[in-house]
Amino acid sequence: MAAGLMTTAEEVFGLTATRSGALRGRVRAPGDKSISHRALILGALATGATEIRGLLEGDDVRRTAAAMAAFGAGVERLGEGHWRIEGQGGLTEPDDVVDCGNSGTGVRLIMGAAAGYDMVSLFTGDRSLRGRPMMRILKPLGLMGASWRSRAGGRLPLALQGGALKTIAYQPPEPSAQVKSAVLLAGLNADNGIEVFEAEATRDHTERMLRGFGASLDVVEEGAGRRIILPPGQKLTGVPVHVPGDPSSAAFPLVAALIIPGSEVTVEGLLLNPSRIGLLDTLGEMGADLSVSNIRDEGGETTGDVTARYSALVGVEVPPGRAPSMIDEYPILAVAAAFASGRTVMRGIGELRVKESDRIALTAAGLAACGVTVEEEPAGLIVEGCGHNGKVAGGASVTTHGDHRIAMSHLVLGMAAQAPISVDEPGMIATSFPTFVAMMRGLGADLAGETGPATGEDGDA
Ligand code: S3P
Repeated sequence: MAAGLMTTAEEVFGLTATRSGALRGRVRAPGDKSISHRALILGALATGATEIRGLLEGDDVRRTAAAMAAFGAGVERLGEGHWRIEGQGGLTEPDDVVDCGNSGTGVRLIMGAAAGYDMVSLFTGDRSLRGRPMMRILKPLGLMGASWRSRAGGRLPLALQGGALKTIAYQPPEPSAQVKSAVLLAGLNADNGIEVFEAEATRDHTERMLRGFGASLDVVEEGAGRRIILPPGQKLTGVPVHVPGDPSSAAFPLVAALIIPGSEVTVEGLLLNPSRIGLLDTLGEMGADLSVSNIRDEGGETTGDVTARYSALVGVEVPPGRAPSMIDEYPILAVAAAFASGRTVMRGIGELRVKESDRIALTAAGLAACGVTVEEEPAGLIVEGCGHNGKVAGGASVTTHGDHRIAMSHLVLGMAAQAPISVDEPGMIATSFPTFVAMMRGLGADLAGETGPATGEDGDA
C-alpha cells in the first residue's frame, strides 16, 4: 500500500464475542435493505414526493440516497429512518463519480435505472465491490442499447452511456433479483416495455413496489420460475413507503437465541415475504422453537413478530431450490448447523462465491478455525454439527475480508462457543446492520471492542 494510504495501528479495530448467558428481550429489526434501496430509487424515478418510514440507515443505503441526490432527486432526512424523496420523473447526469461503497444491490439497480437516460454516469465502490461481477447486468443493458467502458471483465470503476433503449426478452443465467431488477428498471425506458423470465423465483420487491408506485405489470408463475412483463408507457408517482424489518438481519439475534442455552428473543415487525424466509423454514426443519405472532399487512407486505427459543437442533439437507429465498443467510445457517446434532448439507449455493466476499470459502475457513468439521464444495458447504451442548471450540481470530455477514455470523458463533472469537473490520457491519452491536449487547450478549468506521478499504492484504 502506498505511503500516506497506510492505516495506523490505532485505526485497527476488532470485536470479540465471548460465551454469553441467556439472551432475552424484544427487539425491532432494522429496515429491510432490499426494500430501502428500491424505495429511494423508485422515489427518484417517480414524479412527486415519496415519504419513507423505517428506512435502513446502513452505509449501503445511505450511498444509494446520496446517489439519488447526485442523479437529481431531492433527498431529505426528516428524522430517524424517515426520509423524503422528491422525484423528478427521471434521472439527470451526475457531475461526479457515484460511489456505491460496498453495495452490489445499490450499484446494479442504479445502473439499470440510469441506462435509459441519455447521459454518462461513472460508478465505483469499495475494494469488495470493485472486484464483483458487473457483466451480469452490463450484458442485458448492452443488448438494450446502452454502452460502457470498464476495467477488465466488466469490473468497476466503469462509465455507462445510457440512451434510448430497445425492448428485449431476457432470461438471467443466474438466479438474481439484482439482475432482474436492473433489467426491469431499464425497461421502464425501453421503446416497447420489457420481459424478464427467471427460471428460479427470486425476491419480488421490485415487482411489488413498481405496482405500488403506479406501474402495471404482469407476473406469470411458470414452474419454479416467473415471467414478468412490463408494458411500455409506465408513469411512476411518489407514494408513502413503510419499510418492514429485514429478515436477513433478524437472522442473527434469532439464531443466537437458538444456540445459547435459556434464551428467548422476539424480533418484531419482520418481513415475512415468502421469497425471503427460506431460513425460517430451514430452521423449523432443524427443530428450532420458532413462533410467529401478530401477523399483519404493512404497505403491501406481510409482517409479523418472530420468537426464537433455545433449541436442540438437528442437521438437515437444505433443498437447493430454496437458495434464492435465503441466499444471504447461509453463513448464519452454517453457525446454527455447527450447534446441531448431525450434518447439514447446503448445495446449489454457488452464487455465495460472488457476494461481498467468497462466503463459501470464508464460512468454511472460519468454522474450521473454530474447531468445526466443514467440507467445502464448488457450490456447496457441509457442516458436521458438534451437538447442542456448546461444544464448539471457538478461540479464533476470523478474517472477514470486510464482509458484514461473515463478521456477524462469527460473532454469534463466539457467543455460544467455548472460547472467544474475534473478527476484523467490524466497522463493515454498519453497511447492513448499524445497530447490531448495541442490539446484541442489549439482549445480553458479551461483545467487547470497538467497531470503527465502515471504510471497506482497511485490512487490504
Ligand atoms: C438483493 C439480491 C440478492 C442478495 C442481496 C440483495 C436485492 O443478490 O444477495 O443482498 O436486493 O435484490 P443477488 O441478486 O445477486 O442474488
